[in-house]
Amino acid sequence: MAGLIPRDFIDDLLARTDIVELVDSRVRLKKAGRNYQACCPFHTEKTPSFTVSQDKQFYHCFGCGAHGNAISFLMEYDRLEFPDAIEELARYQGVEVPREQQSPGQSTQHNRQQKQDDYELMESISRFFCHQLKHHSQGPKAVEYLKQRGLSGDIVKAFGIGYAPDSWDSVLNQFGKSPERQEQLLALRVLNDNEQGRVYDFFRDRIIFPIRDRRGRVVGFGGRVLGDGTPKYLNSPETRIYHKGNELYGYYQARQAHRRLDRLVVVEGYMDVVALAQFGVDYAVAALGTATTEEQVQLLFRAAPQIICCYDGDRAGRDAAWRALENALGHLKDGVEMRFLFLPEGEDPDSVVRQHGKEAFEQQLDEAVPLSKFFFDNLLSRHHVNSTEGKAALKAEAMPLIEKIAGEHQRAMLEQELSRFTGELTQHQHRTDMRLANNERPLQKADFSAPGKSKLSPVRIMLRLLLEEPALAQQYQEVNPSLLEGLDVPGLALLNQVFEYCLAHPHKQTMQVLESFREHPQAVHLSRLLVLDYPVDEDNRQKLYRDSFAKLLDWYCQDRIETLLSKSRLGNLSQEEKQELNNLMKAT
Ligand code: UTP
Ligand code: MN
Repeated sequence: MAGLIPRDFIDDLLARTDIVELVDSRVRLKKAGRNYQACCPFHTEKTPSFTVSQDKQFYHCFGCGAHGNAISFLMEYDRLEFPDAIEELARYQGVEVPREQQSPGQSTQHNRQQKQDDYELMESISRFFCHQLKHHSQGPKAVEYLKQRGLSGDIVKAFGIGYAPDSWDSVLNQFGKSPERQEQLLALRVLNDNEQGRVYDFFRDRIIFPIRDRRGRVVGFGGRVLGDGTPKYLNSPETRIYHKGNELYGYYQARQAHRRLDRLVVVEGYMDVVALAQFGVDYAVAALGTATTEEQVQLLFRAAPQIICCYDGDRAGRDAAWRALENALGHLKDGVEMRFLFLPEGEDPDSVVRQHGKEAFEQQLDEAVPLSKFFFDNLLSRHHVNSTEGKAALKAEAMPLIEKIAGEHQRAMLEQELSRFTGELTQHQHRTDMRLANNERPLQKADFSAPGKSKLSPVRIMLRLLLEEPALAQQYQEVNPSLLEGLDVPGLALLNQVFEYCLAHPHKQTMQVLESFREHPQAVHLSRLLVLDYPVDEDNRQKLYRDSFAKLLDWYCQDRIETLLSKSRLGNLSQEEKQELNNLMKAT
């Protein structure tokens, strides 16, 4: 397991990166005033609203709201997870990523080297299998099998499909020349050993599907018999470089084929992925175990806003779909959706696309069942809502699942739908009305969403200034938001946290401060604040910073005076409070 990446390293990496140069290496930028512009790579547009600021080392799209620093850009553009984006950026800068915590007994440096070696070896083995398909004496029968399954030469090549000859020592002889190599091949499970210590090839006389991870590295293989033998498929077991639940067969290829994916289809088999791609549905992936895991769902939604799970219509298929649904709930943000397509018994995507073609298959995808429908169809098939007990049981099973849904709106819709079945609709509406009447709006966005027009509150001004110039915190020690404790204004808690951070790290730059708030629930407010059109001269920053604080202090004093006065009317001020009130009255 890789250790944590030290925060200092990340900050350092950001400091050496010029975001303009980085973005420009992927999206051609044009200078526009102080900033750089391009058509946004994250949504479709004709006039450029994607802006990159060299001063702030930050990008923002006024069209779709995408924004962030160099790391976020790589995560979004290259569709990488956070650690992978760091790796990528480090490679770009030609530096190594250090790791905290070493696994006992082995240095991380050693581990990394070994992994690198593992990937190279797996790639060579994959190429070896391809070579066998063409050149081994048994190759022709494998080619014949693939032809008979309708696979084209091109698609076989594109997926790197190969053949493992019917032999105990093809891989062994080719790659296992030293004891160390044999050890490595055993660890990667391309060789087996038995109790007598005999070492032999894991895959024999099978069609080989190399499994690539999200970054395109071969991490395992699936091997199919050339006929009706059993087991039909033999798969690489988990190894130090292969964790089935984290990868999807075909994911890398689908992402390579499309800059932006509108949807991804999850199917059951290797053959389905390959056949679909051959017919132009080049956005299918297969889960490599049985159920689709949470990690896989997360990976899928990172790549596309719509996921269609395509399963056999039988019992097993529906069970698999339900498990995928359960694993998806926590990742169903508003704006993404999962749907289900159940094929007639005895069919799979491979057979459907061959029989009916791409259009017909895609039409079925378009008509796939929304998650909400499958959710209630499934529950209602097990709970009978014509009795009170049935309704209660339905609710008891549904509520914990609904509560897992990440998106507020999706959650509310399902909740409302549930209340329709339990007959609590009127109650539900009543609650909603009350909430509205009480003005319990979800988020006060107004201050942020209208750049240029908004009048910023003193808290927001201070936040913005601190972000622009983190050194302010240390420069003016008399400005300390923690003095305002108890004052009820929005954003004060966040201001305090940013202030504390800047005070402790006066030499950090804007995007480094932002980076350390990446996981903060209100991080998005910080980025929005930063892109607001709110020009302040560098000379005026200090003054504005102190003035804003003075205003807050003023509010605080007024507030405090009122509190103390009303307390005094009730006659229960302590000696200290009397003194405080006195001082406050004098000061204002
Ligand atoms: P299927 O039996 O549907 O096979 O298994 P398939 O992919 O359609 O292949 P063909 O068309 O018969 O050649 C679906 C998936 O389940 C896994 C494999 O990942 C397979 O692609 N599986 C199936 C195994 O791992 N082992 C098996 O023995 C069978
Ligand atoms: Mn099949």
